[in-house]
Amino acid sequence: MSIAYLNGTFLPIDQAHVSVMDRGFLFGDGVYEVIPVYGKQLFRLAHHLRRLQNSLDAVRIGNPLSDTEWENVLTGLVTRNSGSEQAIYLQVTRGIAAKRDHAFPKDITPTVFAMSTPGLPAVDIESVTGIQAVTLVDSRWKHCNIKAITLLPNVLLRQEAIDAGTAEAILIKDGFAIEGAASNVFIVHNGLVITPPNGPALLPGITRDLILELAARNSIPYREADVPLEDLQSADEIWVTSSTREISPVIRLDDITVGSGTPGPLWKRMITLYQAYKEALEKGEAD
Ligand code: PDD
Repeated sequence: MSIAYLNGTFLPIDQAHVSVMDRGFLFGDGVYEVIPVYGKQLFRLAHHLRRLQNSLDAVRIGNPLSDTEWENVLTGLVTRNSGSEQAIYLQVTRGIAAKRDHAFPKDITPTVFAMSTPGLPAVDIESVTGIQAVTLVDSRWKHCNIKAITLLPNVLLRQEAIDAGTAEAILIKDGFAIEGAASNVFIVHNGLVITPPNGPALLPGITRDLILELAARNSIPYREADVPLEDLQSADEIWVTSSTREISPVIRLDDITVGSGTPGPLWKRMITLYQAYKEALEKGEAD
């Protein structure tokens, strides 16, 4: 039985209960993070805590824990759960109110919940065949940089991708590729790695930022620039990236074969760098 954390207590997940009056349940009024764990170590914790703070500020919920307290809670969770590779999910909601009212209640205490899911995909680079994706119209709100638990559009878009026999939806807004339903998007054009710039239209992915850092450190040409749909469709490579998916090569987009229809050479280079970074982190040789 996996162990969860709820409002100061570690307990078996089936004993973790939240009131139906919690505003997370009634309004989706909360924010979250997903943090991968490799070799029992939280991956880029400081980056995730910074993004959590930004999300909390944007929705005007006071951070219930200091960074040190978060670190203690999350490492406590990692230790109490088996497996050296885990995905930690945490969420903070505005809390429990006496009555259902859209406006913020006075003197409300945020609900803090975290859980661990075992295992992350082990990447055997040579055996990765790539995924299929569809393009769909981005039907979300105007604050996609906030990691809000209100994920109904993302849920519907991902399901539409699954129903089409594919693994991810790449969202198109005003003729530009923005990100995936639960991932960021990269393209490669003539050796140049391109991803849309951060802003309110997309989530500033921790994986995305690390890929840009690795590109810079290893002299791989890259640019943060808008990606018109035509450039997505004519890309040599397309990748979707997230904490749980790492870097997934897209080999078919709608009815178009991407590049040669197999994971591309720059994907191989980047996933190799990414795996090396993970190993360095496990040995305490990376931040
Ligand atoms: N989602 N964009 C969206 C809309 C996402 O939901 C995610 C991740 C990302 C990638 O962010 P990161 O690299 O920090 O994981 C981009 C998580 C994994 C989820 O909702 O489960």
